[in-house]
Amino acid sequence: VCLSVCLSVYLSVWLPACLAAWLPVSLSPSLPLCLSACLPVFALSVSLLSLSLSFFLSLSPSPSVGLPCILSGIPLVSAVAGKWTIPYLAQHFSSERYTVYASTSERFRYWREDTWGCYQHEPPTEVRNMSFADFVAQMRDHGEHSKMLYFQQALVMGVGEQILRDFQQLDLETAVLLKQLGHWQELTTNLLLVAPRGAVTPAHYDEQQNLFAQICGRKHVRLFRPQEFARMYPFPLAHPGDRQSQLEIPAVAEGGPRLPPANAERFPGFSRTVEYSATLSEGEVLYIPAYWWHQIESLTDNVSMTWWFKCAAADQAEKDSETGRIRLREHDKAALRRNV
Ligand code: FUM
Ligand code: FE
Repeated sequence: VCLSVCLSVYLSVWLPACLAAWLPVSLSPSLPLCLSACLPVFALSVSLLSLSLSFFLSLSPSPSVGLPCILSGIPLVSAVAGKWTIPYLAQHFSSERYTVYASTSERFRYWREDTWGCYQHEPPTEVRNMSFADFVAQMRDHGEHSKMLYFQQALVMGVGEQILRDFQQLDLETAVLLKQLGHWQELTTNLLLVAPRGAVTPAHYDEQQNLFAQICGRKHVRLFRPQEFARMYPFPLAHPGDRQSQLEIPAVAEGGPRLPPANAERFPGFSRTVEYSATLSEGEVLYIPAYWWHQIESLTDNVSMTWWFKCAAADQAEKDSETGRIRLREHDKAALRRNV
């Protein structure tokens, strides 16, 4: 019985999951497969592969397939990796005010202000505009009434001369190479993210392709396939958090076990998801395909940068070979209804 349970879990969950992510992998947290089959399926976590840029480019069809992986040795942000430390940024950012989110907990769930739904909504974070120097002075202030801060500012207008000069050293050629290979549309945003250790961006998906670059410090990233849409329990359409999961997935200590969400009993399907995880260090770039769910956890104080590229809604939707009808998945429908 045990053997057949193991075999069926292997064939139905783990094997396709591995194939779906570049044939990696190790099963973490270092559980033998047969043991993980006997445990709640929360244990299923697969490490993403790290590929060199040349190998990634040689894979065919390339990033258009939409599978995440870590790109190591990629020159995208090498001009600033290790250079844009928090003290360096504090020294060179202008004294303008930038966007900083403040949260009463370590979780920073994004929400839209321009909601067109009729939901009563208590914003989970507060937006503050403050200078970089003030942000640095206050980001570790965890007094009784103080909040945790997370700097999130789109580059590059108004940031100061030296930062602008550095920004112009970024490797646009690689960005355009990947864009062309993946048939992505225009680059929309480079968001600079500066987070204190322990900050968590809870599980959500974005509607753009993302080359997520780690500039200094480390982050742990946990990904779930777009096909897990229902098992990730997004807030309903037109809710200010409608790209966000309602799950409260606890952060993992690095290499630690995958724990059930705090509200797991309301959302039982999550236990059947497979998680893909990676720890990003300075200079590494993670390709996060559009619509992949991700939760991002700061293992140290750190700096990262997104490279978001537009993509068309439902551009990967398949046609049913028998009926000729298009088969829309849940995330395709959500994107179309949101008029992406
Ligand atoms: O916290 C973060 O680094 C989040 C990034 C993202 O959601 O794209
Ligand atoms: Fe995101």
